[in-house]
Amino acid sequence: MSEGAIVFEARGVTKRFAGLTAVNGLDVALRAREVLGLIGPNGSGKTTFFNVVNGVYPVSAGEVRHRGEPITDWAAHRVAARGIARTFQNTRVFANASALENVLVGSHIHAELPLLQVIVGTREARRREEAARTAALAHLETVGLAGRADEIARNMPYGAIKRLEIARALSMNPEILMLDEPAAGLNPREAVALMELVQSLHARGMTILIIEHNMRVVMGLCQRIIVIDAGTKIAEGPPDAIRNDPRVREAYLGKGAA
Ligand SMILES: Nc1ncnc2c1ncn2[C@@H]1O[C@H](COP(=O)(O)OP(=O)(O)OP(=O)(O)O)[C@@H](O)[C@H]1O
Ligand SMILES: [Mg+2]
Repeated sequence: MSEGAIVFEARGVTKRFAGLTAVNGLDVALRAREVLGLIGPNGSGKTTFFNVVNGVYPVSAGEVRHRGEPITDWAAHRVAARGIARTFQNTRVFANASALENVLVGSHIHAELPLLQVIVGTREARRREEAARTAALAHLETVGLAGRADEIARNMPYGAIKRLEIARALSMNPEILMLDEPAAGLNPREAVALMELVQSLHARGMTILIIEHNMRVVMGLCQRIIVIDAGTKIAEGPPDAIRNDPRVREAYLGKGAA
């Protein structure tokens, strides 16, 4: 799809939990090959937005489209199969599996093979397994973990786990990558390296929606930023406009700060 065309669109997305509107009528349009930031104070509804567009929770109102087709309330695996992959704020890796195995989990290698063929281990099944392994190793290399393929996840430092999650998302061959605070918990040097990784994915043609508190990362990466507060959009625009927006300053720093 040509650069700038809208590939993903949420319109009026609302999510209510008992007594609380976590996301309130949110419009988010993601253009092909852009890096769009989604920022806002703690508890403003950023992760909930990811959860409703990625099939974790049903929406309370609104609709979600991918390339113009409705995908509202699709199950998580269908959204992923459609080319929209995500990472989680609270990392979700299999602690006792190797880095390579964690990435292989995402690739559904036997998805199209009849079960019997998988069980008897046909040549085709073996060929696919080998292809998936090669691809998984390439994804580990992309995220800078080429040398750690056989390392057990629980022995890996936090910064490596955050990269492993991205490798697993890449194994779904996504068109759109949604990252929930990929730099959280990283030291400043690791955060810069992570930003370079996201930049390199963008340079390869990936469309990216990123939630991130680290303002250096956000301002350095994103072409556009959407700011939400208490579930409602309060600003949208390029980084410079967002940085100088009085409503954004107020949301982050409190009244009087703007
Ligand atoms: N499953 C749930 N049940 C009830 N309330 C929830 C649920 N998930 C989230 N919330 C509430 O919705 C609001 C938004 O939470 P959310 O996690 O989306 O915020 P966030 O912007 O991602 O915050 P942070 O920056 O801290 O990650 C919060 O008040 C949170 O407590
Ligand atoms: Mg969150």
